[in-house]
Amino acid sequence: MIIETFITTPFQQNTRILACEETGKAICVDIGDSADEIARFIHEKNLELQAMTLTHAHLDHIGGVSDLHKLFPQTEIILHKDDEDLYYGLPHQPLFMGIPREQLRALGLEYEVPPKLTRNWQDGETYGVGKLRFKVLHCPGHTRGHIVLAEENEQIVFVGDCLFQGSIGRTDLPGGNFEQLINSINDKILPLGNNFTVYTGHGNETNIGHEKATNPFLTGVYQIE
Ligand SMILES: [Fe+2]
Repeated sequence: MIIETFITTPFQQNTRILACEETGKAICVDIGDSADEIARFIHEKNLELQAMTLTHAHLDHIGGVSDLHKLFPQTEIILHKDDEDLYYGLPHQPLFMGIPREQLRALGLEYEVPPKLTRNWQDGETYGVGKLRFKVLHCPGHTRGHIVLAEENEQIVFVGDCLFQGSIGRTDLPGGNFEQLINSINDKILPLGNNFTVYTGHGNETNIGHEKATNPFLTGVYQIE
């Protein structure tokens, strides 16, 4: 399996190309920006991009969808329905993150409405990419429609902004809910098994066993009354 990471946007978001080495079928998980660089990699490796698969619709995960879609117009765009408002509201997202309108251009955060979604994720569906099989798990909390993609044979999970090395996703933005996020992590992500490598939306990879043992949000150190 090919896993290539591109660190994008001022938020240092991990955009990833995942591909089945045998068939050349590929997906792009979350697209912050850098569409040209991503396209170059796809062409160099002779991959066939079948979809842009979005874990959630915050601007640092979807800001590059429009540009990549212009280069690969046949590619599907898949998102959970509960994040559609965020997705189509992309031009307004920097404002509710507290960034003043007059600074948007200078920060590179001026966005057009992204292209129409092809379809929505269903919780529990299995999504095939060549010979890879991703289980789609709805994990609300960071956003209402956040999903993670778990590949059992490879023992890897792409968790977006649910879980980080030593931390969890923020829950103070619209649609965020701390209790829901903790439940999603405990009920959906941790049961995958200690050996799963966790690919996060920002920062380094980790694994489930390590987070269970050391992440203060999971060990009970940060207990909220
Ligand atoms: Fe996010």
